[in-house]
Amino acid sequence: MLKSMYEWLDKRIDITPMWRDVADHEVPEHVNPAHHFSAFIYCFGGLTFFIVVIQILSGMFLTMYYVPDIENAWKSVHYLQNEIAFGQIVRGMHHWGASVSIVMLFLHTLRVFFTGSYKHPREFNWVIGMLLFFVMLGLGFTGYLLPWDNKAYFATKVGIEIAASVPIIGDAAASFLQGGEVVGAQTLARFFALHVFFLPGILLALLGAHFFLIRKQGISGPL
Ligand code: HEM
Repeated sequence: MLKSMYEWLDKRIDITPMWRDVADHEVPEHVNPAHHFSAFIYCFGGLTFFIVVIQILSGMFLTMYYVPDIENAWKSVHYLQNEIAFGQIVRGMHHWGASVSIVMLFLHTLRVFFTGSYKHPREFNWVIGMLLFFVMLGLGFTGYLLPWDNKAYFATKVGIEIAASVPIIGDAAASFLQGGEVVGAQTLARFFALHVFFLPGILLALLGAHFFLIRKQGISGPL
């Protein structure tokens, strides 16, 4: 059954060369920890991506229960956490994944920096990486408000005050984030939209470009 489906597709859109291109691509020796243990430093980009996939999957399930309004946000999270089968574990994965992904991202950035992989011809991928970095921080910041508890509320207030203190664009950035006179219903609605639609969309587009360039240029090194 699967075989005939595969053949049906292959005859029409020639899928064999597509997965062969990835499957037959040899891992260079200098990034393979089986050859040199120190090559494990090259794993952090892949680990970041692994966590990003977990965040997207767990986030999709959380969105099935989360209610983005100030009356019900906290209650919906409480309900999900305590009443729904696997709710606690899915929320826990998303909660801890958020921190672990930033740690992995940081280690990946350090690896790229200390192996000099940002240099010619990979400057453009470094710039895409910087954008990825800000998008990941943005996801962390916007996600933190969503449970709408005291910690979330006051952390966001402080975050918006920090944004407001930036010269020239500070006020505009703060009112864009806050959406109204106070941190309230408008803020929660736009943080939800940013967290669930805008930033993940931008993240996926940037990741597509990041991986395209890595395949095109090959991995850097050996040192
Ligand atoms: C969600 C965020 C990111 C993901 C999932 C990701 C993923 C990856 C992966 C899988 C690789 C292949 C090599 C490796 O794993 O080390 C890579 C390479 C690279 N990344 Fe990232 N990355 C991210 C963010 C960043 C950031 C923040 C920077 C720098 C500011 C960056 C710059 C680069 C560069 C320049 C390369 C090419 C390195 C080389 O050829 O040695 N990336 N990335």
